[in-house]
Amino acid sequence: MGKVILESRGLNFDGNLFWRLPGALFGFALVFNIGFTLALSFLKAPRASRAIVSQEKLSRMQGREDLSNFATMEEKDMNSHPNLKESRRGRMVLPFEPLTVVFQNLQYYVDVPLEMREWGFDQEKLQLLSDISGALRPGVLTALMGISGAGKTTLLDVLAGRKTSGYIEGEIKIGGYPKVQETFVRISGYREQTDIHSPQLTVEESLIFSAWLRLAHEIESKTKDEFVNEVLETIELDEIKDALVGIPGVSGLSTEQRKRLTIAVELVANPSTIFMDEPTTGLDARAAAIVMRAVKNVVDTGRTIVCTIHQPSIDTFEAFDEVTHLFLYPDCQSKEEMTGFTGGNMH
Ligand SMILES: Nc1ncnc2c1ncn2[C@@H]1O[C@H](COP(=O)(O)OP(=O)(O)O)[C@@H](O)[C@H]1O
Ligand SMILES: [Mg+2]
Repeated sequence: MGKVILESRGLNFDGNLFWRLPGALFGFALVFNIGFTLALSFLKAPRASRAIVSQEKLSRMQGREDLSNFATMEEKDMNSHPNLKESRRGRMVLPFEPLTVVFQNLQYYVDVPLEMREWGFDQEKLQLLSDISGALRPGVLTALMGISGAGKTTLLDVLAGRKTSGYIEGEIKIGGYPKVQETFVRISGYREQTDIHSPQLTVEESLIFSAWLRLAHEIESKTKDEFVNEVLETIELDEIKDALVGIPGVSGLSTEQRKRLTIAVELVANPSTIFMDEPTTGLDARAAAIVMRAVKNVVDTGRTIVCTIHQPSIDTFEAFDEVTHLFLYPDCQSKEEMTGFTGGNMH
């Protein structure tokens, strides 16, 4: 029956072909396996290159046949940076209003979690922040310090209005007026502790994406592009703007560049207040210094910035103008105890 069907389709093979075909199959498997083994042992795997040069710099480099000029060019670049810094203030493409954030006697409670009730904690509410007052001024970099669990992230969340549960008591004033959450989100940015980016985009594309989503749509696209370039310059990402973001720890940007990108993505929304949760945690002293330089550049534009920091190096610590310290009390309450000034006064 099978034979008749095969023959009717024109597939009339003779008997000995049946043995030749498996032979050919094994032959192919053998040849390809040997080829694969040889290729694996002799060819080198392509290594991910981390040296990233922006297209502009590349064309500039190619424009100069003499490579020795390259060194002098670098020097020029370095010299041009101070001018850049001076001209930064007041030169921003998009205007913003510098605002002071004042908070007084801030209390924050949450309902006691079920697990704690089971452990015999019989109070109705759990107080996480107790009597916290302070002020954040434009152009001044404020640090929020405290041990892990002191409530740094909680305070930042409460100030930024990101807490959806719990009870907040106390006053928060923005530029002298009580905070209205609906308008405050338009003028504030929150840089989370984790850096989450789309790995398939380049640095510049990430910023453009954020700008188009978050800037008001009345703003012309040319102005938006200019503003993106300006942010790239401020955060010193312009050299790597064509680099792919990539997957953390595998390809693309380094941890420090990622942290700066996260700041840039917030800055591109043109907020006047930015909250940053541990921008330097997980970095070594050198990388932290680069991130802090970027943060300082943002402060120089006259924005109000508060960063939580955890175990900073002395260089990082000195980059701050003011320090607010949260102390943790044994009964799970944080209390702000000291507001001091760093820099010269601390020595
Ligand atoms: N929703 C919540 N319910 C109960 N406890 C919380 C809640 N949010 C934070 N906490 C507790 O508050 C404390 C402060 O947390 P957090 O602000 O994240 O500290 P950190 O200073 O390390 O950022 C921690 O002990 C945490 O367990
Ligand atoms: Mg935290």
